[in-house]
Amino acid sequence: MILTEGQAEGQAVNPPVDQPLIHRPRRLRRTEALRRMVRETTLAVHDLIYPLFVMEGKTQRQAVASMPGCYRLTLDLLLQEVQEAYKLGIGAIALFPLIAHDQKDNAGTESYNPDGLIPRAIRAIKQAVPEILLITDVALDPYSSEGHDGIVQAGRILNDETVAVLVKQALAQAEAGADFVAPSDMMDGRIGAIRQALDAEGWIDVGILAYSAKYASAYYGPFRDALDSAPKFGDKKTYQMDAANGREAIKEVGLDIAEGADIVMVKPALAYLDIIYRIKQQTNLPVAAYNVSGEYAMIKAAAEQGWIDEKQVILETLLSMKRAGADLILTYFAKEVALMLQK
Ligand code: PBG
Repeated sequence: MILTEGQAEGQAVNPPVDQPLIHRPRRLRRTEALRRMVRETTLAVHDLIYPLFVMEGKTQRQAVASMPGCYRLTLDLLLQEVQEAYKLGIGAIALFPLIAHDQKDNAGTESYNPDGLIPRAIRAIKQAVPEILLITDVALDPYSSEGHDGIVQAGRILNDETVAVLVKQALAQAEAGADFVAPSDMMDGRIGAIRQALDAEGWIDVGILAYSAKYASAYYGPFRDALDSAPKFGDKKTYQMDAANGREAIKEVGLDIAEGADIVMVKPALAYLDIIYRIKQQTNLPVAAYNVSGEYAMIKAAAEQGWIDEKQVILETLLSMKRAGADLILTYFAKEVALMLQK
């Protein structure tokens, strides 16, 4: 085939309409077997990480109103859920705690209590389902009386003082048995500080899944309902990224990699597919995407109205994240998708 300048093979332009067609792309779409053969991207259950909400108590589950199908679970029910997920082939979970108001303070002290809800949950899961990869969130907001990811002083979020607490939190999680810690706070320098502290304490095999490009997003609304963790004043724009910025995501990812991240993450996913794509071009590290609560809620709401085909929209949405370059996807749809992929 003769290609004109700037043309790649397969991109040749068809001749004018009165001449026979040389290229008929539809040939490759004729049957399912053929489509499967030339498919560029696939979604598999081992790509998925299942986020779960845990709370104190016994045999209780509370529905999260803005996330139909998601629950806050007490530890005993959480163990059942983890077992079920593991049986479905889901290899990893991410844990988030609901903390009582009287345990919250400005410095997030409860976040590094070695007998706190998360360390207890880690130990119980590791005993019940030792094979599942356990990822724990490192951030102050579920523990913060201010609903912020950092310590507040005169309306500002302190960076380095917060990092010191995050380090203690990560160490408490590693001590309890977490496989990966996942800092979601967006303080500067926290990946390096956590890596150094983990290594110094001998936790060299505990990995870091860094929320590297985390945007200040309205898509987190339902999650904050689930954890009762909405900011008490202002917003998170002095630490989470501006939705308008793409190059800055590359900078953040570069810093986290230099500081020792094992996996980098983009969050949210759907409105930031270009960021996932760009980051994938920049690093050989695995790239994760967080299909966040608002993305989940939108699909559930439209499906409840009967306006969309829920299963197809879920699969298409998650596939778009894979196509953009995500290797891993955190998604509240994990169990549903595992069931769909079984068929
Ligand atoms: C907080 C945190 C948030 C989410 C994960 N960790 C919310 C926030 O930053 O306010 C959001 C997840 C979701 O919306 O599904 N450290």
